[in-house]
Amino acid sequence: MSLVEEIAKRRTFGIISHPDAGKTTLTEKLLLFGGAIQKAGAVKSNKIDMHARSDWMEIEKQRGISVATSVMAFEYEGSKINLLDTPGHQDFAEDTYRTLTAVDSVVMVVDCVKGVEIQTEKLMEVCRMRSTPVISFINKLDREGQDPYDLLDEIESKLDIKVHPLSWPIGMGKSFQGVYSLYDKSLRLFKAGQQQLHEEATKLEDINSPELEELIGEKDAAQLREDVEFLDGVYGDLDRSDYLSGVVAPVFFGSAINNFGVKELLDTFLRISPEPKGRKLDERDVEPSENKFSGFVFKIHANMDPKHRNRLAFLRVCSGKFERGSNYFHTRQDKKFRISQATAFMAQDKETIDEAYPGDIIGLYDTGHFKIGDTLTEGEKGVYRGIPSFSPEIFREVINRDAMKTKQLEKGLKQLMDEGVAQLFSYELGARKAVGTVGQLQFEVIQYRLKNEYGASADFASMQLYKACWISAKDPKKLDEFLASKQRHIAKDKEGKLVFMAESKAWLQMVQENFPDIDYHFTSEF
Ligand code: G4P
Repeated sequence: MSLVEEIAKRRTFGIISHPDAGKTTLTEKLLLFGGAIQKAGAVKSNKIDMHARSDWMEIEKQRGISVATSVMAFEYEGSKINLLDTPGHQDFAEDTYRTLTAVDSVVMVVDCVKGVEIQTEKLMEVCRMRSTPVISFINKLDREGQDPYDLLDEIESKLDIKVHPLSWPIGMGKSFQGVYSLYDKSLRLFKAGQQQLHEEATKLEDINSPELEELIGEKDAAQLREDVEFLDGVYGDLDRSDYLSGVVAPVFFGSAINNFGVKELLDTFLRISPEPKGRKLDERDVEPSENKFSGFVFKIHANMDPKHRNRLAFLRVCSGKFERGSNYFHTRQDKKFRISQATAFMAQDKETIDEAYPGDIIGLYDTGHFKIGDTLTEGEKGVYRGIPSFSPEIFREVINRDAMKTKQLEKGLKQLMDEGVAQLFSYELGARKAVGTVGQLQFEVIQYRLKNEYGASADFASMQLYKACWISAKDPKKLDEFLASKQRHIAKDKEGKLVFMAESKAWLQMVQENFPDIDYHFTSEF
């Protein structure tokens, strides 16, 4: 198969949702269709159970689960599907944002009872930033949920995206009868608890056919005709380019647990979703079909066993063909590496692979060479852009509790930061170090891992900080003036970039007014 054909058969996407909307259940059903797993219950949720917060072995176990289910690849009707899992817990939002840089499209699960929830709103913001195409799956139609029209309105208003229903529910909860596909004009009837994988669809070219009454009864037939007429009038045919540019989200209705509406989602997804797309390497647009291999690391997972400190770096192939055993150029370190071990993630098993193509995610065994955002090429310099760090929400000062283990603490902090667990800011004055995260849970994880994996003891003291702002200025003199004036509040991030540590919102505003020649950035990529 040629490179272009290999690319054309690939689809790399992520499923996002607020916890409990049904992401794990939907993932599992997709894997069942792909034949990647044989029975339900095989996919473990990557949810961090808050009841288990103090049980650290439990968190370690959950980290293990999350790596096992991070990437699931399977074949389905001639396509190679790479499904990337995203942590649902909000404290791991950064991890999710980074994972979203490696996908070409997203399926968003919404619970029809709860509607659009906060975590979905946040994730959708990231999708919008990158114009990622989104398909929405409204789940749990077997429950009494909100009116479907209200759900569509809510998605449009809360998620700031236009919707285009491609299927429509007939009833809901106890009276749920099935869905009508507006896309291929067919009817699928629901049987509670059905486990069969291949739902039978009845083609119904003419919605006015009396067959509809026979299938769903007079009342629902009349309602469906009215709905379809209205929906056709409002939405018309889907313009695929609107979906591909992230302006319109096609919407499906179903019930993942009952395996209802899932095949329809998958089949349509394969027809309309984007092939692996190119990415920007510095300022150059790299096309997937270019012959030379390139890719970037978007996730690093440490081995849970402290005796084996190897890590797994997740790399998205962006162009060309990856071949195991080849020497590739590590652009940040400015040197070539022979990649002798690489794994693919087939459903829940890891297996060694010899080659991979654009869109594929491969796992590289790493003994400390990789950081998130690192780029591998066949010699071209530069880095893949688009994996910025955002200003953290919570900051704590690192207090070393064991002077004998200072080296271990530094090494541990560095490695955990490379993994993207949190961000480290080193103050210019004194040896103060601040760790910034999006959630409280990370501090507990860091403290535990420093102790267990590196033998270092650290406490985290609270700090009065509002935001970390990356700073730059066109005029170097102005920057010097600013640095001299705000010396106590200047730190460097892990790349050595200058950061102004603002203590409060009001103060930041005042500083911005007093130093208008400085550019203040809230993400590390500008
Ligand atoms: P998540 O990964 O998005 O957090 O959600 P997950 O799939 O774990 O689903 C959350 C809960 O919702 C689960 O119930 C799951 O069984 C249920 N669920 C998923 N899809 C449907 C659906 O179509 N209809 C209904 N009624 N429920 C659905 P649980 O009680 O939390 O867990 P479990 O004991 O069933 O595993």
